Amino acid sequence: MNVRAFELHDDNRRPPADSLIGIVQRGLRMQPKRLPSWLFYDERGSQLFEAICEQPEYYLTRCEIDLMSVHAGEMARALGEDVRLVEYGSGSGVKTRMLLEHLRTPVSYVPVEISPEPLRRCVQDLAEVFPALPVQPLLGDFTRPLRLPIPPRVPRHTVLYFPGSTIGNFEAREAAELLRKMRAEMGDNGGILIGADLKKDVATIEAAYNDRAGVTAEFTLNMLVRLNREIGSDFNIGQFRHAAHYNAMAGRIETFLISKSDQRVRIGKQQVNFGSEEAMQVEYSCKYSHDDFATLAGKAGLDVAQSWTDPQNMFAVYYLVRAGARATPHG
Ligand code: AVI
Repeated sequence: MNVRAFELHDDNRRPPADSLIGIVQRGLRMQPKRLPSWLFYDERGSQLFEAICEQPEYYLTRCEIDLMSVHAGEMARALGEDVRLVEYGSGSGVKTRMLLEHLRTPVSYVPVEISPEPLRRCVQDLAEVFPALPVQPLLGDFTRPLRLPIPPRVPRHTVLYFPGSTIGNFEAREAAELLRKMRAEMGDNGGILIGADLKKDVATIEAAYNDRAGVTAEFTLNMLVRLNREIGSDFNIGQFRHAAHYNAMAGRIETFLISKSDQRVRIGKQQVNFGSEEAMQVEYSCKYSHDDFATLAGKAGLDVAQSWTDPQNMFAVYYLVRAGARATPHG
C-alpha cells in the first residue's frame, strides 16, 4: 500500500465549547428561534449526510456525479494547466477524483475540512489513486479567510472547488460574502468551480428533504443529540420533529425542528421555553435559476465563464472567473 505522510496544515479556529453555548443561547433568543446548520456535522451527522446522498429522493448528489462523469474532461480544460485545486470540504471524494483524473499537470490538491478524520481519510484514499499528486490537507473553517499552504511549485491558476450545492446553505448575503472571500483566495488568474441545485417542481425538491426512510429527519434531530453531548443541554429528542418545506418566494427549502409540546430546555445556566408546534429554523437550502446564480456571482465580482447542466435541468456546475476576465478556457 502506498503510504503518504499525513502532513496537516492546521488553520483551525473552531469555537470552544463555552462559546458554543453562547452561539446556541443567542440563536434561541431570536424570533423565530434558529440554530446554525454547521452544527449538523459532527461525526454522526457527517455519516448521516452520506446516507442522505444515497437516498432515492435525494437527487442532488447523483445528478452532480452524472454531470461530472459526462463533463469532467471539459471542466478540466476550462480550469487549464498547472492548477492548484483547493476544495472547500473534502466530501466523499468521488467528484474530486473525476476532476483530478482529467486535470493536466496539477500542482497540488488542498482539501479544506473542519475536522481531521475526513481529511485523513481523503489523503489516504487519494494517495492510492494519484500517488504522484501532492496533497496538502488544510484543517480549517472555509467560511473564514484561509492561509493556504505553500504549493510545491508555482501554480498558473488557483481554482476553488465547491461542489454539492453547499453554497445553497448560506443566505443570499452570506453566500455573496463567501464568494467574495473565494474571489480573493483564487487571485486574478484563478476561478471557482461550483455546484448549484436548480429550481424545479416543488414535489421533487420537497421529497429530497423528506425521504421516506427518515434519514434526513434523523440528521436534523442529531443536531440536538450533539448539543446535549457537547454543551450539556437537555433537549428531549423525542419531543421534537423534523419539518422541511419549500418557500417558493425565497426559492429555498427551509428546515425546522418543531417542538411537539410546551416544554423547557436547559442551555448552560439558562432555561429556554418552547411552545407546542413552535418551529426552530435550522437550515436553508437555496435553489437557483441560471439567472439567480449569475446575479449572485455578479454581487461577488464574478462572471459565469462556463456552465454544465444535465438534460433534465436538475443541477448545474458553474465555472466562475473574475468579472471582465476572458471567458474562454485557458491554457
Ligand atoms: C450539504 N447541503 C448541500 C445539503 C443540502 O441539500 O442542503 C445538506 C442537507 N440537508 C438536508 N439534506 C441534505
